[in-house]
Amino acid sequence: MPVTIVAPAVLRAGEPPAFPGHRLSLAGPVCYLQSTLRLMTNKANAPAATSAAGLRGVFAASSSISDVNGERGELIYQGYNIHDLAKHSTFEEVIFLLWNKRLPTRSELSELEQSLRASYEVPGELIALMKQFPHEADPIDELRTAISALEFYDPNARDLSRESSVKTAIKLTAQFPTIVAASDRIRRGLDPVAPDGSLNIATNFLYMLKGEKPSEHDAHIFDICLVLHADHELNASTFTARVVAGTLADMYAAVTAAIGALSGPLHGGANTNVMKMLLEIGDLENVEPYIKKALAEKRKIMGFGHAVYKTEDPRATHLREFSKQAGESAGDSKWYEMSRKVEEVIFREKGLYPNVDFFSASTYYMMGIPLDLYTPIFAISRISGWTGHILEQYSDNKLIRPRAEYIGQRDVPYVPIDQRS
Ligand code: ACO
Repeated sequence: MPVTIVAPAVLRAGEPPAFPGHRLSLAGPVCYLQSTLRLMTNKANAPAATSAAGLRGVFAASSSISDVNGERGELIYQGYNIHDLAKHSTFEEVIFLLWNKRLPTRSELSELEQSLRASYEVPGELIALMKQFPHEADPIDELRTAISALEFYDPNARDLSRESSVKTAIKLTAQFPTIVAASDRIRRGLDPVAPDGSLNIATNFLYMLKGEKPSEHDAHIFDICLVLHADHELNASTFTARVVAGTLADMYAAVTAAIGALSGPLHGGANTNVMKMLLEIGDLENVEPYIKKALAEKRKIMGFGHAVYKTEDPRATHLREFSKQAGESAGDSKWYEMSRKVEEVIFREKGLYPNVDFFSASTYYMMGIPLDLYTPIFAISRISGWTGHILEQYSDNKLIRPRAEYIGQRDVPYVPIDQRS
């Protein structure tokens, strides 16, 4: 739907901003404005002419962290193409990149790796608290609650200086995997496995989850999965993190809120539902009738469609290959082949492409990871992007406070309670 706004400066796409600062764009003309969404107004308190449903096409922050080109199917982190990073980089290197706007030197990378590894362990009080959680709790909800509680054990949590915030970001990024693995083991009646500071994040997570070192192949694939999920511009959970950070609440508060946003089935929760769907479909022959029936019933097929990509999600290109490899190495390509068939039918019927959640599901399944850990695994990666955005928000903060387009009544006379029908 074309959106008209009343704004002091309306420029064509590509023209330079009239003044530095945030930009608000609504498909078509690009409006550069002094501040964020609250400048959708022509007067201090006058509402915008109309609002964009779901804020589609609206630039609600300025960021150098990542960019999505939905038409070309491109994703870049700080200028680097995701395909190059997936081929050549590691998760730890990407963390440095997201936080520092450039790739690290060898010694900078080694320093960051050491800091992360030295922070893997979580406070014993937190593990004791997690043991009180109901065993049937969803692991993504356990992660959300654990991160909220982790703030109690950080005396510097409220120090929002860059130096202190980077330390918090390191702690959070290092401890997400420990918390997720511990929550899975606790619910299975097992003791958490202590982190191994000689391992990178990907290998250490798989080790803590299963209690044995993963194969090099699985550890490598998992590492690249973390690279692929690390950031994605102003997705729902990142926007949530920035809104909370914009109030100058601490990083734990912003990340806790982001986990809540990620957990929804229209966002990070889709990957678990993809695998549930594949298991429900059961076999290759059933794919076509199942999908056609679901579409006829107007059901959303999890792992397909995207708010920005209008072509293949570049992350899905790699995950498709990982799903294939994971099937081959486990000697069971059934889930990969079923996924390919789902992809074919949905493209034929609806013209939709798979998103990042689709092939990650069968990849993790073949690695023996429990279904309800897929979304927490997404968070283990995305914490790097969330913290990057929070650092960016703190460094040039402006409270994020858009307007709502009021659609209710006005001037309604007040009726005393005993005169109401
Ligand atoms: N299955 C079936 N139809 C779909 C799907 C889907 N997965 N996605 C979009 N459509 C259809 C809609 O029904 C609608 O059709 P209509 O015009 O005939 O009514 C049209 O495509 C537009 O759909 P919207 O939901 O309005 O598009 P939007 O850009 O808002 O949706 C979203 C993006 C929410 C991701 C959607 O595609 C979806 O619900 N997908 C399934 C959930 C999912 O995989 N989420 C993960 C996204 S990636 C991430 O967050 C990490």
